[in-house]
Amino acid sequence: MKYTIYTREEKISLVREYMSRGGMKSRFCREKGLNAKSFDNWIKKFGNPDADINNLILVISDMHIPYHHRDAFEFLDGLKDKYDFTRIINIGDEVDNHGISFHDSDPDLLSAGDELKASQDACKELQKIFPEMDLVHSNHGSLSYRRGKAGGIPRHFLRDYNDVLMVGEGWKWHDEIILESGATSIIFRHQFSANVLKAAEQMGMSCVQGHFHSRFEIAYTSSPLALNWGMTVGCLIDADALAFEYNKLQTKRPIVGVGMIENGIPRLLPMLLDANGRWTRVLP
Ligand SMILES: [Fe+2]
Repeated sequence: MKYTIYTREEKISLVREYMSRGGMKSRFCREKGLNAKSFDNWIKKFGNPDADINNLILVISDMHIPYHHRDAFEFLDGLKDKYDFTRIINIGDEVDNHGISFHDSDPDLLSAGDELKASQDACKELQKIFPEMDLVHSNHGSLSYRRGKAGGIPRHFLRDYNDVLMVGEGWKWHDEIILESGATSIIFRHQFSANVLKAAEQMGMSCVQGHFHSRFEIAYTSSPLALNWGMTVGCLIDADALAFEYNKLQTKRPIVGVGMIENGIPRLLPMLLDANGRWTRVLP
């Protein structure tokens, strides 16, 4: 008899798929070639798969591929090895799409087609590190839909993002994500406001955002009912890329790093850079 060995992530993913799809367990097991008794154990073990999957979340934002920091993938790969993340959430601007933006394109940058090809190559690399990732729509990432809308083209005529970036179905796009981690309800959006604490107060739950490249902060707020927080996770851009020319005259520099949430508690993980702007290879 042939046995397949499943990783913990694969087990959680199968339990989640079964829970979200519903239907008969026996049929699901037959379809997936699973041993029904083992699958029962997995369901018990990962009892509430959504709670389990949210135990240790990595939050990535604003990579602006292909204008991401050249050491970003290595940094992410190192974090993945160091922490056994249960879920990866990318809160937008995963690609820059400079070539199809609503603003004038810089003639010294890649054409829209070349930029897309470079983005596809980089996303392929990123997908090797994170085959499963939840992504949130954003101003840069969702440009093809926004351009389509502005041009009067219904969404049905446009390719979905998995096709555009040539990534597998493990990457799933959302308008926003709301989940429970530890004792906290958390909402993830690309952008709330420069004052993320105010957003947490207004939403009545913890808020995670990107978008503000030079903000890298966590602040708490309490009420008689809950202790909530807001986190802004910086970015993973190459600050010297021409695509960020608009940043150059700003006093505030981008902060390169990511966020992490362990059982509902947020933490920031900076990517420390040396004098040449390269990653020091020190993992936070
Ligand atoms: Fe951004």
